[in-house]
Amino acid sequence: MVNTVLVTGGAGYIGSHACVELLQSGYQVVVVDNLANSNCESLKRVQDITGKPLAFYQVDIRDRNALAEVFAKEPITSVIHFAGLKAVGESCEQPLMYYHNNVYGTLVLIQVMADADVKQLVFSSSATVYGASEHVQYTEDLPIGAINPYGRTKAMIEDILRDLSATDGLKPTESPWKIALLRYFNPIGAHESGKIGEDPNGIPNNLMPYVAQVAIGKLAQLSVFGNDYPTPDGTGIRDYIHVVDLVKGHIKAIQALQGEKFAAGGCKAYNLGTGRGCSVLEIIETFERATGRKVNYKFAPRRTGDLAECFANPELALKELNWKAEKSLDDMIADTWLWQVKNPQGYN
Ligand code: NAD
Ligand code: WQD
Repeated sequence: MVNTVLVTGGAGYIGSHACVELLQSGYQVVVVDNLANSNCESLKRVQDITGKPLAFYQVDIRDRNALAEVFAKEPITSVIHFAGLKAVGESCEQPLMYYHNNVYGTLVLIQVMADADVKQLVFSSSATVYGASEHVQYTEDLPIGAINPYGRTKAMIEDILRDLSATDGLKPTESPWKIALLRYFNPIGAHESGKIGEDPNGIPNNLMPYVAQVAIGKLAQLSVFGNDYPTPDGTGIRDYIHVVDLVKGHIKAIQALQGEKFAAGGCKAYNLGTGRGCSVLEIIETFERATGRKVNYKFAPRRTGDLAECFANPELALKELNWKAEKSLDDMIADTWLWQVKNPQGYN
C-alpha cells in the first residue's frame, strides 16, 4: 500500500523539512497550509531537493469543508500535524487567537479525520508543556504544567488527544486512534542543501536565527538574556536539536503507529531532543568557530518566563521508536549558516 501522509503546516520551518524526509523515504505527501507564517516557495524547493512532486492546498485547518474536500480527493493514510501559531510573546498578547487557531484548528482536523476514518496522527507538541518543572532533565512521565497561552494550547491538545484515544473500544466496530505526541526541544539548523531553513517574520524571537542574523550583519547585536543563572557559565541551557534529526523522528513515529506496538491503538508522548544541554555562550562560541564570523553580543537581564536549564531524556524514543538524534552542534550551526548565507532575505 502506498502511504500518503497529510502534512498540516507543511510549508513552515519544520514541516518543509518533514516533506523532504517523507518524499525521500517513499511516502506520497499532501500539504495543507494557510501560509499564515510561511511562503509556498519552501514547497517548490522541497520538490527541487527531492525531484519528487507533492500536492499543496492553501487551506486553513479551521475550514472544515475545505479540509474534508482534501480528504475526499487524496488517499490519506496518516497525518502529521504541524499547523499552529508558535510565538510565546504573541500568545500572551492575543491568547484567543492562539486557542482558536491551535486548539479549535486541531478539533476540526480530528473531526474531519474521524469522518474519513483516518486515525493515525503525529502531533507537534513541545517541551514547553513541562512548564516550570523543578527537574532539568525531562522524562515523559513528568506532570504537565505549561506557563503561557502558547504552551497551554499544546497541553490542551495533548489532553484532547489522550481523551480521544481513551474512547477506543467503546465502539468495537470502529478502528482505533493511533497517536504520537512528539515533544520537541529546541529545533535549529536547516537542510544541508541550504535551500530550506527557518525564515522568521521580522525580528527573530529564538536564539539561533538571531545569532545568524547578527553574524551576517542584518542585526547589530545579540542580547544574551541573563548571565546570572545557576549554570556553569551563568547563561541559559537548552537542548538544541537539528531539524533534520527531528523530522526523522516523525517518520519513525509513523512507522511505530503502523506497527505492533500500536496495533490496538493508543496515544503516547515522546521527547525529541539530544539529551545534551548547551549554554547560550557555548552556542555563540561554536558559531564563531564554525563560521569564522564574530557574533557581537551584550549581557541583558533575564527574559521573563525563561528557565535556567532544561534538556530531554530521549531514552523512550530510542526504545520505542528506534530513533535518536545523530547530528552535532557543529552540523546544526554549519547548516544554519549555509541557509543564512544563501538566503539572506529568507524566501523573499
Ligand atoms: P512555522 O510557523 O514555520 O510552521 C507552522 C505552519 O503552520 C506555517 O506554515 C503556518 O502558515 C501554518 N499554519 C498555522 N496556522 C494554520 C492554520 N490554521 N491552518 C493551516 N496552516 C496553518 O513553525 P514551525 O517551527 O515549523 O513549527 C511547527 C510546529 O511545531 C508548530 O505546531 C509549533 O508549535 C511546533 N513546535 C515548534 C518548535 C520550534 O521551536 N520551532 C518547538 C516545539 C514545537
Ligand atoms: C534559547 C535560549 C534564551 C534569544 C522557545 C519556546 C518554546 C519552543 C522553542 C515552541 C534561552 C536565550 C534567546 C535571544 C538569548 N517553541 N536567548 N537571546 O525559550 O528555550 O524556547 O522556542 O514550542 O516553547 O519558548 O528558545 O531560542 O527563544 O531561547 O539569550 O535573543 O537563548 O534566554 O536561554 P526557548 P529560544
